[in-house]
Amino acid sequence: MQIDVQLLPIPVPASSLSRKTVVVIDVLRATSVIVQAISQGALEILPVITVEEAFRRGSTFPEGTVLLGGERGSRKIDGFDLGNSPKEYLPEKVRGKRIVLTTTNGTRAFYSVMSAKEVLAGAFFNIGAVARRCVATGDDLLIYPSGDTGRFSLEDVVCGGMLIHRILSLGEKAELTDAGQAALILYRRFEADLTEAFRLSIHGRDLIGRGFEEDLPFCARIDVTEVVPVFREGAIRPLG
Ligand code: MLT
Repeated sequence: MQIDVQLLPIPVPASSLSRKTVVVIDVLRATSVIVQAISQGALEILPVITVEEAFRRGSTFPEGTVLLGGERGSRKIDGFDLGNSPKEYLPEKVRGKRIVLTTTNGTRAFYSVMSAKEVLAGAFFNIGAVARRCVATGDDLLIYPSGDTGRFSLEDVVCGGMLIHRILSLGEKAELTDAGQAALILYRRFEADLTEAFRLSIHGRDLIGRGFEEDLPFCARIDVTEVVPVFREGAIRPLG
C-alpha cells in the first residue's frame, strides 16, 4: 500500500483516484460532525455545497424526517436546525433523521474526491476504525485534509499523520510519500496534546474567537466510536 496526503485541498484528477481509498478529514469540524451524527443514530448525511441547495434538498423530504445542519463563518445558518458543533448532534435530535449538511470546506471536499474507489470520513473520533478499514481494503490510500479555504490546515494533517501511525501500528508495510512522511512527523510532534495543534491552527484560533473553544477538546477525543462513514452517490452512511 502506498499512502499519500494531499497537503493542499485542490481537486485531484479522477484518473488517479479510481483504484484508491480516500479518507476526507476536517477535524474542526465537518468530519467530526459527520462521525458524531452517524454514531448517534442519524440515518444518513447529505453533503451539499451551497445554502440554497441545502434548503432545496431538505424540502424534498417529508417534514420531521430531515434536519439542516452546517455553518458559514463557523456559525449556524439562519433557518437551519443545527450548526456545525459536534456537541449539538445528540441522539435525541438526530436518531433516525437524514441530515443535509453544508460547511465551508468539509462538505465540498467529498465532491473533490468522489471518483475514488471508496471515500471515507475520518476524524480523531473514529481513527482506529478507519485505520482498520484502510488495512482491510489494502488499496493505495490518499488522505485528503479538507484545509481552510484552499490553504493547508495543521489540525487535519496531524489527524492524517495519526491515521498513518495507526495503519503502520497494525503491521501494514506501507510506502509513504514525502507528504505522508511529513504528516507522520507532524503527528508525532503533537501526539501528547492534540489540542495544542488545534490552538496553533488558524481555524482553531478562529473557533476560539467565535465562542466555540469547547469544541477543541471535544474534537480531540480519540477512538470514541467504531463508525466508518462512507460517501457513495451523494450520501454518507455507515459502512455496512
Ligand atoms: C468547514 O467545513 O469548513 C468547517 O467544518 C468549518 C467549521 O466548523 O467552522
